[in-house]
Amino acid sequence: MQSATLLKRSINALSKQSLIIATGKRSFQSSAILRSDALSRHIDTDDNNDHTPFDFTEENMKKVDTIISKYPPKYRQSAMIPLLDLAQRQNGGWISLKAMDKVAEIIGVAPMVAYEVASFYTMFNRTKIGKNFVQVCTTTPCMLRGSTDILNACKHHLNINVGETTKDEKFTLVEVECLGACVNAPMICINDDYYEDLTPETMKNLLTQIEKSEPTKVGPQNHRKAAEGPQGKTTLLEAPTGPICREDL
Ligand code: FES
Repeated sequence: MQSATLLKRSINALSKQSLIIATGKRSFQSSAILRSDALSRHIDTDDNNDHTPFDFTEENMKKVDTIISKYPPKYRQSAMIPLLDLAQRQNGGWISLKAMDKVAEIIGVAPMVAYEVASFYTMFNRTKIGKNFVQVCTTTPCMLRGSTDILNACKHHLNINVGETTKDEKFTLVEVECLGACVNAPMICINDDYYEDLTPETMKNLLTQIEKSEPTKVGPQNHRKAAEGPQGKTTLLEAPTGPICREDL
C-alpha cells in the first residue's frame, strides 16, 4: 500500500478517535431516545387548574364509601387507586388537579401523594383525552406479530401521531407496554375493551365502526375463541366444575 494512503487512513482514524474523546459519544452505535406519551407534570390549562371544580356525584360518593369500607380504617389510603380510577371515569377518562385533591382529602393524605400515584401509573391520564382512548401494545410479542403495522394503520386512518387527539376529540392514540394478552397478539385496548388478533385491515374496520357508532366485536378479530391455539382446545376438555366466571367459555 502506498505510504500516502496509509498516512491518510491513520489521520482519519485519529480524527474519529479525537471526536469520540471530545464529544464523549460513540460514533458506531446509537439508540433511539424513548419518551413517554404521558405528561408527568402539571401545566395549568383553562379546564385543569386550581379553580376547576371537582366533586364526586351522589351516586359515585356511595361507591367511594363502598370502596373505602373494604379496607381497615387506619389503611383507608389503600383506596387511593380505585378512587383515582372512579374520579377519572367520572371526569371523562382523565383526572384533573382538583379530582386528585378530592381523592387525597377523602383518604386523608397530602395532595402530593395522589399526584405521585396518578403520575406513576400509566392507567391515569393527567390531560384530557378523546372519547375513545386507543392504546396500541408494541411490546415484543405484539411487535413480532405486526404491531408496527397496526400502529401505522391507526395513525394513517385517524390522521394523528402517537400522543395526539383527533380534532373532533373522538380518538386519542397512545403506544403502551404489554397489556397481558400476548397470546392473541397483536392487540389494542380501546377504553375498557381488548381487540386482539388484529391485522391492518381489521384495525381500520374497527375504527370505522367506532366512528359510525356501530357495535364492535370485542376480543379476537379472527376465528379464534378466547385464547385457544389455532388447533382449538386440546386440554381441559371435560366440563368445568366451577366456579364459572364466563358462561360463554
Ligand atoms: S406484548 Fe402485547 S399484550 Fe403482551
